[in-house]
Amino acid sequence: MKKLCLVLTALTAVGSGLFAGSGADKGGGGKAPLVGIAMPETHVQRWQKDGANLKAAVEKRGFRAEVAYGDADQNQQNRQIQTFLTNKAKVLIVANINDGVAAAISDAARDKVPVIAYDRLIMNSGDYDYYITFNNYKVGQFQGQGIETALNLKSATAGSPKYITLFAGSPTDNNAKFFFDGAMSVLNPYIKSGVLKVVGPYPETSADSSKFQQIATENWQAPIAKNRMENLLNADAREVVLDAVLAPNDTLARAIIEACLADVKYAGTSGGKLPVITGQDAEFASALSIKNGQQYMTVFKDTNKLAEAAVVLAEQIINGNANPSIPGAVLATGDLASIGNTGKKTVKAYLLEPIIITKNNVNVPADAGFYSQQEGAQLK
Ligand code: BGC
Repeated sequence: MKKLCLVLTALTAVGSGLFAGSGADKGGGGKAPLVGIAMPETHVQRWQKDGANLKAAVEKRGFRAEVAYGDADQNQQNRQIQTFLTNKAKVLIVANINDGVAAAISDAARDKVPVIAYDRLIMNSGDYDYYITFNNYKVGQFQGQGIETALNLKSATAGSPKYITLFAGSPTDNNAKFFFDGAMSVLNPYIKSGVLKVVGPYPETSADSSKFQQIATENWQAPIAKNRMENLLNADAREVVLDAVLAPNDTLARAIIEACLADVKYAGTSGGKLPVITGQDAEFASALSIKNGQQYMTVFKDTNKLAEAAVVLAEQIINGNANPSIPGAVLATGDLASIGNTGKKTVKAYLLEPIIITKNNVNVPADAGFYSQQEGAQLK
């Protein structure tokens, strides 16, 4: 019996070794098609998960995968894309850092390698055809609605206004504009009627680029947001008590919470409480924070599903299907079609649906298998 077990273990080891080898083999000739996966950064947690999910979904289909992270440096990501091309990738899945990626995308087009823009649209390029993402305007609307509900703005009056301060994501990430504009579509009417007052710069939309720059957070870096929040608390916000902060994602939300907790007005030690703070990505640390009553809300974008959908798209492209249809994603048409407008052409944009998360439904991501079991248990 012992012997049999040993033989079985050895066979399994050889089997899995072979499988890993075929998935990771970087050589040429007669190999399964290679999919190059370029992710933007690792300092925002989701991307490591996106990279791992994409790789697994590619290998599940018998293709080979290579994943590279750009460390928020577009030159570095461009070099990584060049390496994928040198390695004869058949398709590229790219979440870019800024529109400096367009040069690498044009090299892909020269080599006839189709590119899928993943999560973030590749701006100022006419050299690719596909984009897959969530409805990012809706993500922003959820953030605005979270604040509207939490502050009960529908019943608030100009005589006793609420105070908000605004943050946006990276000015080089096209998504940041969608998030902000979606949120402001909900909040602007309350600002106009005087019910909600903005502390600090107030771009009405992302099109007000000089004010948008002032509230934007270069490369989504948490220390930049924390620092800006600290400065605000000591300057523009010194004379008021903030009721809300529009924060574009969980990483920045937690940095803003940290800055607030260091201020006695919001620390909870002398009766004060944190402002209503928004987020997105349903990062586990933020889900815990929501459960514990610090962060107010997040937006769950099931990136497990996004990765799977992107690889279904890649597979259809490899198989020569010019009009792919992706289960779980809707091709943007009508008003939504402009989501795929790169400034040089309108690419096919496939959209998945985000879900708003507050304390009431904080278990939804866990129930969808988004966290480890251990993490999920901590939210119960
Ligand atoms: C993504 C967000 C993410 C942010 C920072 C955006 O493009 O859509 O999910 O939080 O980048 O990495």
